[in-house]
Amino acid sequence: MKKIGIMTTGGDCSGLNTVIERIYHGATLRGWKVIGILDGTDGLSANPPRVIEFKNNTLPIENARLAGSFLHNGRADALNFETAIERGKIEQFNKKLRQSLLDLKLDALILIGGNGSLSLAWCNKEIYKGLQLICIPKTIDMDIPLTSKTIGFDTAVQQLTNFCDQLLLTARSHHRWFIVQTMGRECGQLALNAGIAIGASAIIIPEIKYDINSLISHIKSQTNDYGIILVSEGVYLRGHSGKPAEIISRKLTAAGIVNRTAFPEHTQRAGDTTASDRILATQMADCALKAISNKETYVMTAINNCECKTIGLNDFFAAGEISDDPKILGVKTSDAYVSPEEPLLQVAADMGIYIGETK
Ligand code: F6P
Repeated sequence: MKKIGIMTTGGDCSGLNTVIERIYHGATLRGWKVIGILDGTDGLSANPPRVIEFKNNTLPIENARLAGSFLHNGRADALNFETAIERGKIEQFNKKLRQSLLDLKLDALILIGGNGSLSLAWCNKEIYKGLQLICIPKTIDMDIPLTSKTIGFDTAVQQLTNFCDQLLLTARSHHRWFIVQTMGRECGQLALNAGIAIGASAIIIPEIKYDINSLISHIKSQTNDYGIILVSEGVYLRGHSGKPAEIISRKLTAAGIVNRTAFPEHTQRAGDTTASDRILATQMADCALKAISNKETYVMTAINNCECKTIGLNDFFAAGEISDDPKILGVKTSDAYVSPEEPLLQVAADMGIYIGETK
């Protein structure tokens, strides 16, 4: 009988519980035993490692749609790869993780993580020697290369859409504009997709250079005297520091445009998992279990052309290289970020949404 472990690491998002429940379900049908590692690497490095054994109804199916991780993602300030590096304790930390995995006698570990977690797994691959490491990409940022979908993104777009839908009503009542700052780190996918869903008046993302005066002229030229301007948290304005929504808000106020800022923050990582994210979680769980049967290791599940297949973690890592953006000073770029050829950019422009200086 195979013994497999599941671990969620990095920031949470909606869809983690679906993927956990589906892995357990599929593994049980194969006659495998499943354990959950609590609190990510925080729990794995504990002595003894903090784990639970899954049994029927450990994670009831009706709870599989709930946001957050049933297994927790760990405390940000606990010993993890980043804090271990900062404190000069990375060797000790890696040794502990390796020892815990040996003690647990796992045949395979399914690691559900974001860009950072998957990169760290590849960079510290020695830890996972002798067992199969299968990764599943999850993130609301959609900044993982070589997969067209990541678990949690669709629900985050929905959450942000719901948030803006509500704001639009009060914006209309007071003839004012709302500048909504979205999450997404250096990647504009979340802002771009939600912006199109709500019919935003402008979408400002890190990958596309924007001009504050063009934005002001665009807002002044609108027939409406209210609306939403979405700005991704990774956006910056040369010579200014602070939250991009607040910087833009001050510029708009100075130009006579009545506005307010709004920050949906971690509600973008919450909310019942959408059907689309649940389907994705099921596809990825199934693909991960097949990869275990096929004796694969150091792989990541990825969706391309509607099909879920595994790709090598080496290929993921090579494709995700982050470099200086030649077009925008001080901004980084990667293959996973919104490219100038992204079809949604043209759709937005055709709909009269200001998306920056694309010409
Ligand atoms: O990577 C996911 C993400 O939600 C980002 O979009 C955001 O910048 C960050 O995590 C917030 O992290 P924390 O939960 O530590 O505030």
